[in-house]
Amino acid sequence: MSVHISAGKGEIANTVLLPGDPLRAKYIAENYLENPKLVSNTRGILYFTGIYKGKEITVGASGMGCPSVGIYSYELFTEYNVDNIIRIGTCGAYTSELKVYDILNADQSASESTYAKYAWEIDDEILSHQGNIFESINTTGKELSLEIKPVNIHCSDIFYRKGTDLPAVAAKYNCLAVEMESFALFANALYTGKNAATILTVSDVIPTGESISADKREKTLRTMMELALETGIKL
Ligand code: HPA
Repeated sequence: MSVHISAGKGEIANTVLLPGDPLRAKYIAENYLENPKLVSNTRGILYFTGIYKGKEITVGASGMGCPSVGIYSYELFTEYNVDNIIRIGTCGAYTSELKVYDILNADQSASESTYAKYAWEIDDEILSHQGNIFESINTTGKELSLEIKPVNIHCSDIFYRKGTDLPAVAAKYNCLAVEMESFALFANALYTGKNAATILTVSDVIPTGESISADKREKTLRTMMELALETGIKL
């Protein structure tokens, strides 16, 4: 048991899939894992551990934003000895060259967030994925005949804002899309010496306003879920 996760020691697998939404974690557990067991539901942030193709996998939620993913990923790495975290989430594309349903693999995450600086005295405003999960996602994507786009991602603390200009840090590092969690996850993995990656499905294209409707989201995110699970069993 840690401060925010009520699972017992040994109830969390070495590899964790981390969607933002607890109900997405439940969906993955119920649709893909054999004998899924609910191991934590503190604050409704659900974690399940089960078997996928013979390997133990945990799937649980990060919540939204760097502060939340910062808490869960740190406790998973340090209190449960987790080695691998694969975040699976959605993102908004900054360019109409990307389309809804595109699957992105975050190479580097650029952010205005002060998380890495104040947590770990890491001053960088851009952090890489950690370890070799990123490469494994690309390889697994090829094996599954999926087109996976390795790109830089803007990790923002802000969902609603006044202006519509491309944020400076996103322009500086050629970030093609925005989400809100990868930077803190990569910072925690860097500090603890663990492995972390982020797979994202484009849920909306900001310049055109195109988006995946709420009722289609679950089904269309299945490709990303399967990519993460197939990668997870190789780690
Ligand atoms: N901004 C931030 N995070 C997101 C977005 C967005 O437009 N879409 C999906 N996650």
